[in-house]
Amino acid sequence: MANGMISFTLGLFLLMCCYSEKIMASDPDPLQDFCVADMESKDPMAVSAEDFFFGGLGQAGNTDNAVGSNVTMANVMQIPGLNTFGISLVRIDYAVGGINPPHTHPRATEVLVLLEGQLLVGFIDTANKFFSKTLEKGDVFVFPKALVHFQQNVGHENAVAIAALSSQLPGAQIIANSLFAADPPLPDSVLAKAFRITQELVDFIQKKFA
Ligand SMILES: *[C@@H]1O[C@H](CO)[C@@H](O)[C@H](O)[C@H]1NC(C)=O
Repeated sequence: MANGMISFTLGLFLLMCCYSEKIMASDPDPLQDFCVADMESKDPMAVSAEDFFFGGLGQAGNTDNAVGSNVTMANVMQIPGLNTFGISLVRIDYAVGGINPPHTHPRATEVLVLLEGQLLVGFIDTANKFFSKTLEKGDVFVFPKALVHFQQNVGHENAVAIAALSSQLPGAQIIANSLFAADPPLPDSVLAKAFRITQELVDFIQKKFA
């Protein structure tokens, strides 16, 4: 009887171990690249509806730039009332052929809904598997936290999307700009070796971002 009890308990324990392997956990999130403590909150009596309001997503951003897209942000910088709530929005406008170039949000997963146009979207996971879709009006796509992703307008008209991000300040690191437009610049030798190209070609690409 006692043996039966022991093997039952052991079985239960092993079962729990198996299940717990499937439980995913994550680290606590920083809210910005760094945060040197000097924070103060607004006096609650001084808070008004304006602290929770932003009227800026109604207008299209100007897409007349090198990439043909424009991201209008509605995060804690525009809406102080978002502080500590782990959520924010962007509006993204795309000219025909325009691209929101490969970038990451170090602090947020993004869920995008296409309001107008046609978008080729995709992300690359850490095993370098590429996940991609062509979105039509009303379609939704998820870009998992911190993974490299992009959108391109592959339609014949302007496109516009709204995306929600799981951070009050998601941060964005555009891969090409980080590598080729850093200040001060990365050494040519690093980029040449990393991309398996000549240093002349590195200079050529860097000049495109100047
Ligand atoms: C995005 O659009 C805004 C509003 O038209 C404009 O002020 C800003 O310069 C644009 N940004 C880029 C990168 O073109």
